[in-house]
Amino acid sequence: MYLMTWNFEYQNPVNVLFGVKSVKKTGEVSSNIGRKPLVVHGKTIEKLGILNKLIDSLKDRGIDFATYPEVSPNPKVEDVDKGAMKARDSGCDHIIAIGGGSSIDAGKAIAVGAVMGKSISDFLHGRLKVDSALPLIAVPTTAGTGTEVDRFSVIIDPEDISKRAIASPHIYPKYAIVDPELTVTMPPRLTAASGFDAFAHAWESYVSQLSNPLSEAYSEKAVMLIAESLEKAVKNPGDIEARSKMAMAAMLSGYAIDIARVGLCHAIEHPLSARLGIHHGEGLAAIAPAVIEFSYPGAEDKFNRLAGLLSGVAGGKERVVESIYRFREEIGLDNTLTDLGVRKDMIPLLAEDTLRYMGYAVDNNPVKASKKDIEAIIEKSL
Ligand SMILES: [Fe+2]
Repeated sequence: MYLMTWNFEYQNPVNVLFGVKSVKKTGEVSSNIGRKPLVVHGKTIEKLGILNKLIDSLKDRGIDFATYPEVSPNPKVEDVDKGAMKARDSGCDHIIAIGGGSSIDAGKAIAVGAVMGKSISDFLHGRLKVDSALPLIAVPTTAGTGTEVDRFSVIIDPEDISKRAIASPHIYPKYAIVDPELTVTMPPRLTAASGFDAFAHAWESYVSQLSNPLSEAYSEKAVMLIAESLEKAVKNPGDIEARSKMAMAAMLSGYAIDIARVGLCHAIEHPLSARLGIHHGEGLAAIAPAVIEFSYPGAEDKFNRLAGLLSGVAGGKERVVESIYRFREEIGLDNTLTDLGVRKDMIPLLAEDTLRYMGYAVDNNPVKASKKDIEAIIEKSL
């Protein structure tokens, strides 16, 4: 008889400060961990006035700081390398990254480059190993990536047009300051796309080969919160209760992937973002139904349970897949890959990319996918 056992090690060192107005504590936290931070961010949060809330809390404490406002959506090696140089030239001893996943992931990578003095490309390609990084405070302004509590940083390397992840315990944020009020200015489409990223983290880690009851608990609660609140947050951006639940769901999904990592949906999506600049969450939403249909036979019970938590449907492949289509419609994210600019002639290259640098995520999936399988999933999602 087969006996189910578990064998894993897990330690997550992130100090979490969660709650409305918690951004006001940034100055206090910063002064506790260093002398001068580099504030890493993109343009949007500056325009929306979100950045000022953080800057004010630094000024209130009289903290000397430098800023690096050059992070683009889907950040690239060059963004990171320039940021690392700025941190060194400005004498910064820690990083504060505020924004969506792009800014926080760029901040994590800048924290590595600033200490190690090498291009981040070397770490993305595994030519060098991360030995240390500056301490980092992560302040998310979207609810999706969960990067505020995990050890991953995802960056695009234009050299070989790849979107790769660094995974290292050295890049766990020292603090995550999760203030749901910072997310209320997110427009509906970004709310939906970020929220779908959190949803993808929850279910991909749930059916992952690396899943265990600890990650499963995070995944299940995340899906419950997303079911309760994502549509509300999309339709009523000022609903702070829905925003709080989504901020929590994103964080819980971050813990889930920190333990059990992502699977085939992310494996196929990264090349889409790398080659076409597609928003990560929109790409995931476009391919999720086909990936779930393909993967269902490898984790029937888990997919049935997920669909039950998401929308109360009974199990069965057709009903599970249908519930994903319905969920996408409810949050206004029912785009196809064609809508996002993918053409049929791109399929072989995208499938090659998936296997070229996302193999670990392909292997995590409950059903192993060949190049032909991946091509079929992309074609079905056009
Ligand atoms: Fe993701």
